[in-house]
Amino acid sequence: MEDHTDSRPASAFLATHRPKRPGLAARVLGQTSLNMVGTMAPSDPVLIDLPMPIRTPRLLLRPKQVGDGAITSVAVAESWDELHKWMRWAENRDGFTAELLEVRNRHVMASFILREAIELIGVEAATGTAVVWCGLHDIDWQGRQCDTGYWVRKSAQGRGFATEAANAMVRYGFGVLGMRRIGLTYSAGNEASRRIAERLGFSFEGIQRGANVLPGGRKADRHCYGLLEVSLLPDLDVDW
Ligand SMILES: CC(C)(COP(=O)(O)OP(=O)(O)OC[C@H]1O[C@@H](n2cnc3c(N)ncnc32)[C@H](O)[C@@H]1OP(=O)(O)O)[C@@H](O)C(=O)NCCC(=O)NCCS
Repeated sequence: MEDHTDSRPASAFLATHRPKRPGLAARVLGQTSLNMVGTMAPSDPVLIDLPMPIRTPRLLLRPKQVGDGAITSVAVAESWDELHKWMRWAENRDGFTAELLEVRNRHVMASFILREAIELIGVEAATGTAVVWCGLHDIDWQGRQCDTGYWVRKSAQGRGFATEAANAMVRYGFGVLGMRRIGLTYSAGNEASRRIAERLGFSFEGIQRGANVLPGGRKADRHCYGLLEVSLLPDLDVDW
């Protein structure tokens, strides 16, 4: 599958601090670059370079690209029951045709260019199959904070892909974007998400009662977690 590399030259943001030795260097960067990043903020987020793809031992995380609508439609169909249970956007099954998802996909690509949201697809390196949809959203560039989220297609669940992708995304958020805080929330009862938050070293910060609206208008308590230090993440060999 084609890599999507955003190599626009407009910014000096971190240009001299990209990892030269992938893997180890990226891990070190992820743990030590906050001050560097903080002092190099560009005048506008659109100038921020986003080195892509992100590579983990089993995944290649890349931005959305033309044609992903069809891929996503198949994955949504096979995962519908769980998505409909937990994801607010999974309301109406008819809204997830390849064409409608391709329309959304193009908007997501625009958001990526504008640095408004970073939505990625995780492709399993061994098979070339798209398995994880994940990203960093609600990005507050001034406050240097954002949230992370993810879903995994049904046929690939239970293999640690969500944990691996989220670990990599969070490292990227601290290391490349200069985030100071990354949040993770889930609806009460979503045990898999709770496990992911805790396994990744996030701290439980509280419950917003009835804050999540789920498909069918169901209300759920929102469990809020946050991470302020990349060093709390479990080790992961990752580079970008
Ligand atoms: C939640 C979701 C992303 C997990 O993806 P995954 O790749 O299967 O997760 P992982 O394999 O990394 O497992 C994460 C942890 O959850 C546990 N887990 C997975 N499915 C579980 C389930 N149904 N019930 C309880 N625990 C579960 C795993 O055992 C693992 O815990 P461990 O690290 O202690 O062993 C996936 O089930 C999904 O896409 N669900 C629908 C959408 C969704 O809920 N997204 C999250 C919204 S906040």
